[in-house]
Amino acid sequence: MWTVNAITKYEPNGDEYYAVKNSRNFTGKVVLVTGSTSGIGEGIAKLFAILGASVVVTGRRANEAQRVANDIQQLSPNKQKPLVVVADITKTEDTERLMNKTIEKFGQLDVLINNVGAGVFTTIRDDKFLDVYDYTFNANVRSGLKLIQLAVPYLELTNGTIIGTSSIASQLPALTPLPYGASKATLDFATRALAVELGPRIRVNAISPGFIMTEALVKLMPESVIKMGTEKALLKRVGRVADVAKAAVFLASTDAAFITGTNLYVDGGIINNI
Ligand SMILES: NC(=O)c1ccc[n+]([C@@H]2O[C@H](COP(=O)([O-])OP(=O)(O)OC[C@H]3O[C@@H](n4cnc5c(N)ncnc54)[C@H](OP(=O)(O)O)[C@@H]3O)[C@@H](O)[C@H]2O)c1
Repeated sequence: MWTVNAITKYEPNGDEYYAVKNSRNFTGKVVLVTGSTSGIGEGIAKLFAILGASVVVTGRRANEAQRVANDIQQLSPNKQKPLVVVADITKTEDTERLMNKTIEKFGQLDVLINNVGAGVFTTIRDDKFLDVYDYTFNANVRSGLKLIQLAVPYLELTNGTIIGTSSIASQLPALTPLPYGASKATLDFATRALAVELGPRIRVNAISPGFIMTEALVKLMPESVIKMGTEKALLKRVGRVADVAKAAVFLASTDAAFITGTNLYVDGGIINNI
């Protein structure tokens, strides 16, 4: 039974401040990162591994999953092998297998990072619009919610946390295909709604990256748009995968113990200048 502790006087707790020094030590923690075969997810998985976590690498491409897993084993302080699960997150049976394998291998789950994101340019006049819409919502929203359903019983046991990769795109209708932007806006709402539903045991947060240099960005966006993104960013550069990975680690750490239902923009400030 959870009780509400009323704080009646301000008592600085020295131990809490000292704990910050150790807050990036994830030894003994299990972190599942979807979409970790490339880009932002790969960076997040690598950073958690460097910080001692046991990591689950997953995506559809077996060769890329293996490449990332080899790198991670080298980066891990005790050369720990990550678990590799080749899975298509849009298929319920794959999502179930992903969670089952994670628990079979590590026996617990501490951090779930829902990072998969699909984006295809389309317009309402396009005959395929609704197909793109259905696929985008399945990949970006439904699959993540399914994984959360499966993860909640385990996250409750570890006082775990969920982090979703959203996007500044949810705020930028002039630059964003409707299905992609709407799926990320849904994710933003889901983050807040799930923080309400799953607290106080499980914290739920999102990260909204701006322009982050990954293969997907280069494939999706013309060079001129990336250049515009760099100029509009208040910090005058394109983002790096590591910028997002560091934010994910912060949100998963004990330093963020009082943070839930929030959406952390990692965008060089572009959202205020576009
Ligand atoms: N890069 C940016 O500028 C930017 C900006 C804002 C938000 N984001 C968000 O950040 C996240 C990562 O993007 P990224 O730029 O790192 O792209 P990315 O390099 O293309 O990574 C996408 C990852 O998702 C996986 N994936 C895609 N569909 C999948 C499916 N059906 N089943 C399983 N895995 C799937 C891919 O693996 P496989 O291909 O192996 O399946 C890959 O690992 C996305 O949610 C994206 O919307 C990116």
